[in-house]
Amino acid sequence: MCGIVGYIGEQNAYPILLEGLKKLEYRGYDSAGVALLCPDELKVIKTKGEISALERKIGEGFPEGTAGVGHIRWATHGAPSDINAHPHCGCSQEFAVVHNGIIENYLNLRRWLEEEGHCFVSETDSEVLAHLVEHFFDGDLLQAVIRAVKKVEGSFAMVAVSEKEKGKLVCARKDNPLIIGLGKGENYIASDVPAFLNHTRKIYILEDGEAAVVTANNVEIYSTQGEALQKEVSEVTWNAAEAEKGGYPHFMLKEIMEQPRALRETMRGRLLREGKEFSLPELNFTPEEINSFEQVYIVACGTAYHAGLVAKYAMEKILKLPVEVDLASEFCYRDPLLNKNTLFIVISQSGETADTLAALRLARKEGQRILAITNVVGSTVAREADKVLYTWAGPEIAVASTKAYLTQIFSLYLLTYYLAQEKGNLSRDTLEEAGEALFNLPDQVETILQRAEEIRELAAYLASWESCFYIGRNLDYAVAMEGALKLKETSYIHAEAYASGELKHGPLALIVEGIPVIALVTQRSVMEKSLSNIKEIKARCGHVICFAQEGTIEFQREVDRVFYLPATLDILMPVLTVVPLQLLAYYTAVARDCPVDKPRNLAKSVTVE
Ligand code: F6R
Repeated sequence: MCGIVGYIGEQNAYPILLEGLKKLEYRGYDSAGVALLCPDELKVIKTKGEISALERKIGEGFPEGTAGVGHIRWATHGAPSDINAHPHCGCSQEFAVVHNGIIENYLNLRRWLEEEGHCFVSETDSEVLAHLVEHFFDGDLLQAVIRAVKKVEGSFAMVAVSEKEKGKLVCARKDNPLIIGLGKGENYIASDVPAFLNHTRKIYILEDGEAAVVTANNVEIYSTQGEALQKEVSEVTWNAAEAEKGGYPHFMLKEIMEQPRALRETMRGRLLREGKEFSLPELNFTPEEINSFEQVYIVACGTAYHAGLVAKYAMEKILKLPVEVDLASEFCYRDPLLNKNTLFIVISQSGETADTLAALRLARKEGQRILAITNVVGSTVAREADKVLYTWAGPEIAVASTKAYLTQIFSLYLLTYYLAQEKGNLSRDTLEEAGEALFNLPDQVETILQRAEEIRELAAYLASWESCFYIGRNLDYAVAMEGALKLKETSYIHAEAYASGELKHGPLALIVEGIPVIALVTQRSVMEKSLSNIKEIKARCGHVICFAQEGTIEFQREVDRVFYLPATLDILMPVLTVVPLQLLAYYTAVARDCPVDKPRNLAKSVTVE
């Protein structure tokens, strides 16, 4: 995700940039840096590590300069390191750029710039922006930025500074946030308002395709075609704590709401021509390798394990390969049957979970080549795996995983269909139908999120119970497990997930009058059977809250409450079904006054076995 700050005025810029970066730490924390326009030079100081590492590096005698930019990084291209940290400079060190986003065509741009004589030092996509600005500069920084961003495909929020035009910061954006804070004799730029909320509440919100020239006393806004634009000044009404969470009361809700964006980032460059083609060049599989797989083995913990369970159903159906999904803590202490023709996958949001790492190392010892699905570039899992498929969810702060899970299952679908495409075991039409459906999922998730209030009402019922059940068949069972875990960990309600068909083998004894049962019924192939299971519960006076796909069965008469989800291919329904379950857990926890973002006894990253 990354965080950007900029300051220009009469005060010393460094402490203000530092204060801003600290407020944006939720956007990334693997490296930090500043570029300061000092009287004699443009000074760039950056380092791997958290902001404290930057503070230590700079020490007491920080450089004097009344304008500058700062950056806090969440690595995408290139592992966290001093060199890959922002700001990035051109060859001459006269230009520095900070960037948030992903430049999809950076390899082509880098090749072209190298032919033009530019020398690159980092592995990042962002460095091309600094060289592009330098390349196009002919006395006007705004024009150089406009020409640079026109060359770029992908997403960006960026700010450029140059010692050739000292009195200004120039910024531009597409698909990533950038806000300009308006002070008196000083102005600010940031990815998010908390960065400057202590200084001003008056802001301009830069829109896609806009650029701005920010000086101490003025802000001029332009389209990236170069036309001057008029913009309304907005007033921020949030308090500081709300602002850090984007106006939401908790990170968990913020992260649930961010999911459409996270999915779009995860599909970027991988689902080409609006879904007509699957592309995962980062995996670099040879056709021989792809055709050699005889089984898939997935190892993970907690929510990531549940993502693996979704993949089992999808991969077995589409790839016609047996898929084993194991809890990392179990995998290490039995004798798993692996052969050399196994596609071995580990899934970990943090990339640091001790059990998952132990499983990865054991599998490696057994001769497996490992594909990691992780959210953190440069994490131990990413470093130790042979291939990495990143989920571009951005930093996840709330302990309960939401957007990481959604991007994990989305990545697993991309992987599944990509392998099917390369193996040729699906027709072109079937692949295109799946690709287009995947492409539409972020919009569909958005429509569910707009109905959050309906879920809050359902949560009001759940909140007074100490026990409840989640049931489903097939893919719905996999999602039920994740729904139950979310509720358990956030609201402390004992929530149990069962395959619907298993109820009659024991759990039905627990159904008492009014007990909440969350029934997931999105899979057409088992819908009638699921309905029979619901009737078994209703006959015992359980309170059934049903989540179904619109356009299938009319459930109103059969259950107490029903929430219809937008329709998509049955196999992709988990991406939609889990979203209201996340909201249900969230609102139930809030109703029970639980510490939503930091549930008792839990840590975000479990680094002990
Ligand atoms: C639950 C949750 C945990 C993690 C698990 C694995 O909401 O977040 O169950 O999924 O601890 O963590 P990672 O994915 O970082 O390996």
